Amino acid sequence: MSLPVEEELPLSALLRQSTRDEHDAANSEQFIEELMSGALTRAAHADLSAQLLVVYEALEEASVAVRDDERGAGLVFNELTRVPAIERDLAYLYGPAWREEIRILPATRRYADRVREIGGSLPHYAAHSYTRYLGDLSGGQIVKRMMKQHYGLDEEGLAFYTFPDIPKVKVFKDAYRNELDQLDLDEDEVAATVAETHHAFHLNRAVFTELAEIHC
Ligand code: HEM
Repeated sequence: MSLPVEEELPLSALLRQSTRDEHDAANSEQFIEELMSGALTRAAHADLSAQLLVVYEALEEASVAVRDDERGAGLVFNELTRVPAIERDLAYLYGPAWREEIRILPATRRYADRVREIGGSLPHYAAHSYTRYLGDLSGGQIVKRMMKQHYGLDEEGLAFYTFPDIPKVKVFKDAYRNELDQLDLDEDEVAATVAETHHAFHLNRAVFTELAEIHC
């Protein structure tokens, strides 16, 4: 008996295929559309950066645990680490007292809490890592261009979207997908990864909804 087509797909292709609609929906969130079209202000970009800090603090704490996982170690790449870059952006965008200035939204707390809750669970970590890092290396590069174009930013304030240790993004993304495909997850773990990736998109969208209430 042949397996259903989805189960024959490598994990990277399965995640891409199964989140296509989620991706389009995230992309069409009012906050994202208005931010990308230049309808908002630099404060909206700064607020998004602040939310990202809390999410990546949780994600990169989880990375430390996954690095020790025999199966997962290959999925943790130092060149993806984002927290120091976001901190530099926030210092530029809010000034030296940025830690007192930023405001973390309830949806952001929920997102970070979920990432902390899954801790070093490999299928769940893979879902969150995929959703954020592959997104940053893809759409993130378009966001960077638009932020420059519309909000008078140059490199400063956009370090989050810059990966100095990844000279060829396409080559890196292929290597990342290859690691996903080599994770050696069993059927239940693959299902958990797919489900958690959907959840990750929802958590992102909830942050955009709250940002829209403030900025749109
Ligand atoms: C500003 C809005 C966005 C734009 C313009 C955008 C654009 C893109 C583009 C063009 C790709 C394909 C890149 C390629 O073929 O290599 C992509 C991939 C991806 N994006 Fe987005 N994106 C946006 C928002 C998001 C959001 C909010 C998330 C989730 C938090 C996300 C997650 C992803 C992921 C995970 C991929 C990789 C798909 C794969 O190859 O498996 N994107 N994005």
